[in-house]
Amino acid sequence: MYTNSEILDLVNEALATMPYDRKPQRLYEPMKYVLSLGGKRIRPVLMLMAYNLYREDVSRIMNNALAIETYHNYTLLHDDLMDRADVRRGKPCVHKVWDDNTAILSGDAMLVFSYRLMADCPPEKLEQVMGLYTETALQIGEGQQYDMEFETRNDVREEEYIEMIRLKTSVLLACALKLGAVLADAPQSDADALYAFGEKMGLAFQLQDDYLDVYGDFKVFGKKIGGDILCNKKTFMLINALAKADGKMREELERWLEATDYVPEDKVAAVTRIYNELNIPQLALDKINSYFEEAKIALESVQVPDEKKAYLWELAEQMLGRKS
Ligand code: IPE
Ligand code: IPE
Ligand code: MG
Ligand code: MG
Ligand code: MG
Repeated sequence: MYTNSEILDLVNEALATMPYDRKPQRLYEPMKYVLSLGGKRIRPVLMLMAYNLYREDVSRIMNNALAIETYHNYTLLHDDLMDRADVRRGKPCVHKVWDDNTAILSGDAMLVFSYRLMADCPPEKLEQVMGLYTETALQIGEGQQYDMEFETRNDVREEEYIEMIRLKTSVLLACALKLGAVLADAPQSDADALYAFGEKMGLAFQLQDDYLDVYGDFKVFGKKIGGDILCNKKTFMLINALAKADGKMREELERWLEATDYVPEDKVAAVTRIYNELNIPQLALDKINSYFEEAKIALESVQVPDEKKAYLWELAEQMLGRKS
């Protein structure tokens, strides 16, 4: 069995040798750019690790792993446009290095590339693999749409937020794990349990991303701190702050949500102060932990020896402690 870091090395090696030999260059260069900026590669690693629970020849499904990383990076190109973000992985976003249209079109090309890579699988698996992949891709679009719609609503409930992050983030982690299992001919019940594990882990992962968007260190996180606050993103933290704040604090929070003319740093500082006063960071960390506990239960029901599953749990724990 491969260790987690061996699998990560295999993924990075394969990504580095992906060909971009078509023209015009300007369509393909951004692809190469964004994929060369690093990133945790969590989705392809999860896919190969799930496969590796059952089979040793992980390189056999490398194209499927590359597909999922390419897909993820495509979502980032469009997400950064939608979120008005300028920095990703510590470097200027594609729409900053080039322009908005390049980010849209290169993103589209990456989506198509990812489909081509994913379709590289045994014919008898094609329908199941592409079925799950397509359903997942639609769900991500749905989640991203809710995410945007929520920006202009102040009555988003916590359950709505959880469903939104399940769609925009969890299902891709879950799909990566399940596809790894399916491609390895794992029992259906294991493939489903791995999906459930990914779903819970994904919820914790996005909650953590939202937490780091406020409390992270820019140098490590690689994204602008406070971006979600500036977009009025209805994160778990903002939803709970809106529920808990009363009197003057509630008024102040609402004033910031409505404000159109302000110094960005002032808004980030003011909303962060409100979160702190309401003990919101602790609430978020507790929620993250509770989803990790649920993820653990899902992983326990996967019918492979514990020593094999230890690698997946190790990765989950790394994610729990992540700062980037
Ligand atoms: C960023 O994903 C988008 C989210 C779903 C939070 P990652 O945190 O996996 O980003 P990279 O690929 O490691 O940069
Ligand atoms: C990302 O959510 C979800 C997808 C890209 C599908 P975020 O908007 O929070 O991701 P970051 O923080 O920009 O990476
Ligand atoms: Mg974003
Ligand atoms: Mg977003
Ligand atoms: Mg984020």
